[in-house]
Amino acid sequence: MNILTNTVGTELEQINKALDMEGLPQLKTVSEITSLGEGAWHYAYLVNSSAEPLVLRLPKKIAYDKEVGFNYDELMSDYAGTHAYYQHANKAKEGICPKYFTFFVSEELTYTIESYVGTSVGLGVQTNDQSRRYGIELGEFFSAIEKLESPLSGLGYLKWSNGCLSGELDMDIHSFIPQETEEYSEELETLLESDYEFDKKRVRHLGDELIPKRSNEEERLIFTNQDTSPENMIFTQDRIHIIDPYPIIYTGPSLAANLVFNYQTTFPTFYNTKRYEKQRYNRHIEQLKKIADGFIEGYVQDSVEKRDSLQVEVFLKHVTMAYTHLQLLKKDTLNREQEIRYGLKSQIENRLEILIERLGKFPLEHKKAAE
Ligand SMILES: Nc1ncnc2c1ncn2[C@@H]1O[C@H](COP(=O)(O)OP(=O)(O)O)[C@@H](O)[C@H]1O
Ligand SMILES: [Mg+2]
Repeated sequence: MNILTNTVGTELEQINKALDMEGLPQLKTVSEITSLGEGAWHYAYLVNSSAEPLVLRLPKKIAYDKEVGFNYDELMSDYAGTHAYYQHANKAKEGICPKYFTFFVSEELTYTIESYVGTSVGLGVQTNDQSRRYGIELGEFFSAIEKLESPLSGLGYLKWSNGCLSGELDMDIHSFIPQETEEYSEELETLLESDYEFDKKRVRHLGDELIPKRSNEEERLIFTNQDTSPENMIFTQDRIHIIDPYPIIYTGPSLAANLVFNYQTTFPTFYNTKRYEKQRYNRHIEQLKKIADGFIEGYVQDSVEKRDSLQVEVFLKHVTMAYTHLQLLKKDTLNREQEIRYGLKSQIENRLEILIERLGKFPLEHKKAAE
């Protein structure tokens, strides 16, 4: 059994222990288990025995080919973070996340239970218009969540410590942004000094143009989500739902750019990694692009400022992703997790070529249109 527990037993027994804790009827046989699928970290099961359908998730013992190990604080920050994000997101847009969420963490038994939000219309069967509409809905939601105050203090990914949930850094956003911008500038410089060939003159010019325009004074910290991969979007016939977030306290444009960059560039170019091989994103590039287009439309609406700050952040995502690839190539060997996430060195090399080529062609048209 690849389920995180210190006991010996079957999957059915572990599922039943969780159902019992929740006062739900137990399953009699293995044939009653309805598996919904699995991500990198959890197995998900449909529980149909209560008034509303629920999803039970059990954490895996092995993720990315590595033993996970029981870490109370990490599991608590994951689940208490998901709970807080679901509640917060539902305030920005009712029903976008599961309404019900509860969890239990112990060495013997750890699980989450949440409302089932339906089955996803796969990328492969979405029409262009449908994908664009999902994107618009997502963009409007990202814009709406930016208007809410963060219910949690701190900055960055969440940490659970002494019974409290907060951002892992205790820093003021206006001092954090310049530091981070400096790091991005250094990464860009490293790329420009590398032996790789691309339109370096143009990229330097883009950096000089865009980086000083990075928004700082206007920004405030919001409670948002870094993991909006299609596996964690449930595209139902009438609306989009978000599950399994990776919550973060950060600025709005940075996380909006993360989504745009991932749909335009990450997923289409990471299809050959073990992490994403099942999703075959290379077959759905058009749909991913339509979702990104729709997202920009819904997020920016009529705001020139938002369009500009989004553009700067998307440029920086390109820079940092290309830089990460360059650094991985400098290593003698990759560890197993790096290989699963990024692929073999030859694949990383190929992807880096694509990334720097895109950087060289990074569009500035939006900017011109605004002037
Ligand atoms: N609340 C839910 N409603 C509908 N489907 C869900 C729900 N939670 C999980 N699933 C399904 O189970 C899969 C794996 O669950 P997920 O929480 O994403 O696991 P992981 O943490 O490993 O990524 C999802 O991709 C989705 O298909
Ligand atoms: Mg997931």
